[in-house]
Formats: sequence, structure tokens, C-alpha cells
Amino acid sequence: MRRVAIMTAGADAPGMNAAVRAVARSSFGLGYDVLMVQDGYEGLAKGDIEIMNKKTVSGILPLGGSILGSSRSSLAFMEQNIGRMKEALVRNSITTSIIIGDREAVAAAAFLDQHGIPCVVVPSTIDNDIFGTDFSIGFDSAITTISEALDKLHTTASAHHRVMIVEVMGRNTGWLALYGGLAGGADFIAIPEQVVSIDTLAAHLQHRKEEGKDFSIVVVAEGYPVEAHETVPSGRPVAGYSLAEHVASRTSLTTRVTVLGYLQRGGSPTVFDRLLATRLGMAAVDAVREGKSGVVVGEMGQRIILTPLAESAAQLHVIPAEVVLQAKTFY
Ligand code: F6P
Repeated sequence: MRRVAIMTAGADAPGMNAAVRAVARSSFGLGYDVLMVQDGYEGLAKGDIEIMNKKTVSGILPLGGSILGSSRSSLAFMEQNIGRMKEALVRNSITTSIIIGDREAVAAAAFLDQHGIPCVVVPSTIDNDIFGTDFSIGFDSAITTISEALDKLHTTASAHHRVMIVEVMGRNTGWLALYGGLAGGADFIAIPEQVVSIDTLAAHLQHRKEEGKDFSIVVVAEGYPVEAHETVPSGRPVAGYSLAEHVASRTSLTTRVTVLGYLQRGGSPTVFDRLLATRLGMAAVDAVREGKSGVVVGEMGQRIILTPLAESAAQLHVIPAEVVLQAKTFY
């Protein structure tokens, strides 16, 4: 009898619950026992594991966040707790763990795999930076939030003839800024994949004003390297505020800043994310049924593919250069 554990790990993303539901319902359909691990790898180390039934996943499809809870998963934590995790898995007779999580969760799963623990990862992060899938669960919901926010910010920027600098999430890549910015009609999009000088940005915005465009919306990824990149005590970058100060000091433009922050991770998943989560969750159980483990399930060109965990963890899913170039049409 196969006993499958489900957990959500790393940053939460809208659609995680849809994936939990798909994994559970597919597993029930195959007659597997299904166990849920609370709060990701932290819960696994503590042995916070309990049996699931159909009722557990009833009504969770449209819910944001994760009914299982989640936690960040550093490699140091994994090294310190591998023994406790193994004990918890053996004590519960778990044959395979299915982890719904971000790039950190992939790296942590690769660590488990190296220690002989069978696991399969379902890629879930608003950053869309997991290698091995065109889209990760949560990305579409986050760019929808960004686009709707930009629609709102257009009206106030226009009323006051201002440059609104909007900082979005995305530690290592500019997927959120580029796709959210394009959907929301941004007038400039600053991403780590294509760094331009502050002078170039300032000149672009000044030129817009001289052309009679009396406001601008600039979207900047939080990981964008801004000169004199100040950080707050937490060490988190403040790309948006740094950019605004530089633009204001080089032009006669009035700037304001909006940091969308955790709004991008909240709310109910879009239809796209619900369906992606359902497909990827089912694909993870298919991999278990076929006796496969040590992989990230993904969808590329509408085909399910399996990528070895170590291969996925070793690299980022980057924006294709041609997509970055095409986007320049609009700013
Ligand atoms: O990885 C997703 C993400 O939302 C990043 O975009 C962001 O920088 C980070 O998580 C925030 O992490 P935390 O939730 O630990 O503050």
C-alpha cells in the first residue's frame, strides 16, 4: 500500500490549495493512503503529520494560501534536521513525499533525494523562476494582481501628472515585473535581465513629458540593482524608493512609490492557476504511480515533463531574451 505525504513549502502562492486537492484526490483514486504535513519541512522535522480524507480537501480549490501551512526551507535547516525528517517518514510508513513549493523547496527536496528519500516537487511560486516548467503555480494570479493595481495607479498618476514607481516581487528574475507591467500598460519596466543606467531611465521619462505624456508608470522588480541600493534593517532591498529618488534628483518630475508586496501572493487563484495546479498535481501522482521520484513535474508547450531535482535546483527559469526584446516595443 502506497502512503503519500503532501506538504507545501517555501513562499505561499495562490493555487497551492488547488494542487493539494489534485494530489489528494488523484491519490485517493489510486487507493493510496494520503497524509498531510503541516508547515512544510519544519512540520516534517517535528513529525506534524496526519492522515487526510476527501473531506480535508473539500472546498479548497478557490482558496489562496495553503491549508497545510508553509515555512521557508534553508539547506542549513535541512542538514540539521535530516535525521528527524527520516524518522518521521519511517514512523508514518510514508513511501513518497509530494512537495508543492518554490525554488528553495526544490533545493530542499534535492537534498532529501540525495539522502535516499523519494520525493516529487510540484512547482509553485509567484516568481515563476523554477527551472523545468513554462509557468509555476501562482504566477498568473500574481500578474493579474499587478495588472489590476497598475490600472488603478494610472488614474491617480494621471490626475497629479506624476511618475508612479511600482515595486513588485521577484527576488532573482523579472518575470512578475515584465508580464505584470506589460499587462498593465507600464511606461517602463526595470528588470534584472536588462539593467539600464538611471540616466537612461530619467531621460526616457523626461522625453515622455516633453512629448506631452504628463504621467508615467514605472514597474521595477525588487531585485533590480539600483545604484546606491539602500536596504532597510531587514536587509530587504528597496528598489522602488531608490529609483524614485534617483529619478527625482535628475529630472523635474514628481515621483511617488507603491510597493505591492504581499498583495501579490494573496487572494483566490485565477482560473489559469487552478487548472495548472490541477494538471501538475495529477502529474505528480502519475509519477509516483510509475515509480518515479527525485523530479520536478512541469508543463512545457502543454506537455508534462519531469526534470531531475538537482538539475532544476542548479539554475533559474529565466525570461527568454527574445521576450525581453519584444517587450521593449512598449517602452
Ligand atoms: O519567492 C517568492 C517571494 O514572494 C519573493 O518574490 C519575495 O522576495 C519573497 O518570497 C519574500 O519572502 P518572505 O515571504 O519570506 O518574506
